[in-house]
Amino acid sequence: MPTILTILGARPQFVKHAAVHRLLQARFEAKTLHTNQHYDYNMSAQFFKELGMPQPDYMLPIGSGTTQGAQTAHILQGIEEVCIAQRPDGMVLYGDTNTTLAGALVAVKMGIPIFHIEAGIRSFNRNMPEEVNRIVADNFSSLLFCPTQEAVDNLKAEGTTQGEIILTGDVMLDTLLAHQNSVPELGRTPFYFATLHRPYNTDVPARLHRILVALNRLDHPVVFPLHPRTAARMQDAALRKSDYPNIEFIEPIGYLRSIAYQKESICVLTDSGGIQKEAYILRKKCITLRSETEWPATLTHGWNSLVFEDVEKIAQRIKEQPAAYEEDMFGDGRAAQKIARALTQFFS
Ligand code: UD1
Repeated sequence: MPTILTILGARPQFVKHAAVHRLLQARFEAKTLHTNQHYDYNMSAQFFKELGMPQPDYMLPIGSGTTQGAQTAHILQGIEEVCIAQRPDGMVLYGDTNTTLAGALVAVKMGIPIFHIEAGIRSFNRNMPEEVNRIVADNFSSLLFCPTQEAVDNLKAEGTTQGEIILTGDVMLDTLLAHQNSVPELGRTPFYFATLHRPYNTDVPARLHRILVALNRLDHPVVFPLHPRTAARMQDAALRKSDYPNIEFIEPIGYLRSIAYQKESICVLTDSGGIQKEAYILRKKCITLRSETEWPATLTHGWNSLVFEDVEKIAQRIKEQPAAYEEDMFGDGRAAQKIARALTQFFS
């Protein structure tokens, strides 16, 4: 039985793997390596527990590096050590994080076939570390599992990958469907739900303050789970939570509560990639605090709107009602099955 090593490390990857792990275990000697890129309980272990995933087989020590390079180097070295000892027959990678990049570099140099889930996504903004990470992973992958037709088209237009491009749909839809009945009911008075963690929104104090001021001025409270990066940047810049009384800052929440908050909110405000998709699936209006998105199809009928420079216009954009809804934008909820079948075929 071929051994497949899945590399995980950051919150969105745990959500994606929840849809895939059982299918891998049924067909392969499936192992997981957690790089500890995200290591706080509420950024990591909470997700394994809630989504019913077994503990990872290998855990890297938490890195101390604070730069992109130091973090990636630490993870890369750890993944290489495990690969040298275990010699996997293939490596599953998710998305676009520094964990994905490190896995791709180890695998390509060791001649281990790469299977990239969420391949072909592009924001066309190379200043984002995520964009660079995606391009590298896609270029070296043997199987490229694309969540949307747009992703397939992006890869074909680039023409750089040697691998097989397969349209599967999005595993995040699979995860949502599998857990929808466990989503709690919050039953709150009207509120907005916001998340923020991208460096271009968090790392310049004046920009972060401007966004918080804009959220603070909205007509209903804003529930805002604070990502560790954002919490740290607020502290560095001496931005006090009490200066934004309309914002209800809370600790990072688990998957089910995140879905519950999105579902029950008036509108979602975010710079996350995954939340843009979840909001669409939940038929919730989303304001994306960025100048571009890797999910442009969500913009088409106004379900998602980009706001970057004019954060003061958020309130106005919230009022714009979306039009038509495309049912199958993210597939049919069977992306993981298609991935498992393609992997079986690959090794047969
Ligand atoms: C990463 C991914 C991004 C993904 C996001 C989801 C990269 C380049 N970016 O960004 O694609 O959308 O995760 O959250 O890989 N920290 C803690 N506790 C934790 C985790 C992190 O305190 O559990 C701290 C880190 O030490 C670091 C900061 O938070 O100082 C940011 O973490 P980092 O891993 O750089 O990535 P994210 O900004 O979360």
